[in-house]
Amino acid sequence: MNDNLHQLRCFGCGTRIRGHQAGSIFRCKECGDLFEVEYPGWSAAGGMDRPNAGALKWLWRERRSSSELLDRSGVWRFREMLPILDSFGSAITLQEGNTPLYHLPRAAKALGVDQIYAKHQGMNPTGSFKDTGMTAALSVAKERGFEWVACASTGNTSAAMAAYAARAGLKSLVLIPQGKIAWGKLAQAMDYGAVTCQLNTDFDGCLRVLLSIVQEAPIYLLNSVNPYRLEGQKTPALEIAEYFDWSVPEHILVPGGNLANSSALGKGFREMKALGLISRLPKISVIQAEEANPLVRSFRENDGEAMEPVKATTRATAIRIGNPASWRKAAHAIHETGGWCLDVSEAEIAVAKAEIGREGIGSEPASAVTLAGLKKLVADGRVAPSDTVVLLLTGHTLKDAEYTIDFHKGTLLRPEEAEPLLPEIAALRRNAVEVDATPGAVLKALDEIQSRWV
Ligand code: F0G
Repeated sequence: MNDNLHQLRCFGCGTRIRGHQAGSIFRCKECGDLFEVEYPGWSAAGGMDRPNAGALKWLWRERRSSSELLDRSGVWRFREMLPILDSFGSAITLQEGNTPLYHLPRAAKALGVDQIYAKHQGMNPTGSFKDTGMTAALSVAKERGFEWVACASTGNTSAAMAAYAARAGLKSLVLIPQGKIAWGKLAQAMDYGAVTCQLNTDFDGCLRVLLSIVQEAPIYLLNSVNPYRLEGQKTPALEIAEYFDWSVPEHILVPGGNLANSSALGKGFREMKALGLISRLPKISVIQAEEANPLVRSFRENDGEAMEPVKATTRATAIRIGNPASWRKAAHAIHETGGWCLDVSEAEIAVAKAEIGREGIGSEPASAVTLAGLKKLVADGRVAPSDTVVLLLTGHTLKDAEYTIDFHKGTLLRPEEAEPLLPEIAALRRNAVEVDATPGAVLKALDEIQSRWV
């Protein structure tokens, strides 16, 4: 491990250790908080090691036309920002990153904010943003000689880990909450050859079990308490800044589950500013589901100073997390950038997801909290019509097809949940209809359906 270039700093007490001293659960021995990767050479006193902003921008642009495997990865294209490996030649990549940034014209029109974009991390190789973190942390696992890797997951982390482990020739163990993850994700872990255990508990319970296991067995932990995951997950911030020619948008909205993604993006923007790549920070806002909202409660009660775990429940299963590990880092990103933390209802999530679908893009339910949250920020006047907004869509629509079908069938929400948004739901629903196999019957059905459209 290239300890000359990076070290780990405890986010709570500031204790610094070498990369290989982190232990199996990535918690500080002094205070129990999480670590983050730090690059001492980047400090103002770093001298020769401090990267030059202009040279980096040029280099990263050049790499976009390169056919080298590492350059084709949207993570490793920015490798000067994540010098965590002894040799970049040992990086395990599936050409992740380089995801599209789509304009959302329908949302822009409806909300009166012209510049609304979706950074679609669901367009990664395994269909979620987890790939960007997994290429980084799994490459570290491989370099350190581990044979087994493991994670607890609501589904996407396990899919990503299983795929990258398979590419690296490592064995992987997945712990998931029984019956509470989307089938698409479970199928992926199986397809990529992971040992998959469904535990009769929730995500938080799975993580507790795994933390004990990795202290007994030589298994490398790939949950987002592992700080190397966040190094990969900060690279969409670089892609966004590059897209806007290094003048950042006013707002970034991110779904909040275990709260690593918001933390990672905050770190990415912070480091870019420190290195002179950008001149200001975007406001980072974190959006949670109403019944899985420990960070929102913490902000309401004590401005993000302390957090009480909650018993989480939401149909957006990816963010069904009551005791998020990275809450302090996420709270810091919100405070530092002047963003907000808010929650949205099950019906608001379902409507927003269908609206993203109608943009021709689609996303999994957890991603749609961002559009639902944006509506609230616009209504409050916290997002101005002239602002540029980027929503982080974290997962592909095919991850949870059952949710989508239930919405269109009208079986997703309880009547009392749907009630406040009935007109919106009625306008968006497109249930499949059974029709005789004749042109006449299809044309008749078309007429009938069109006559119901508003
Ligand atoms: N969106 C999706 C699609 C996710 O899968 C997750 C987290 C999040 C948002 C929240 O991101 O945890 O960094 O705040 N999924 C994890 C998993 C927990 O196991 O796949 P976060």
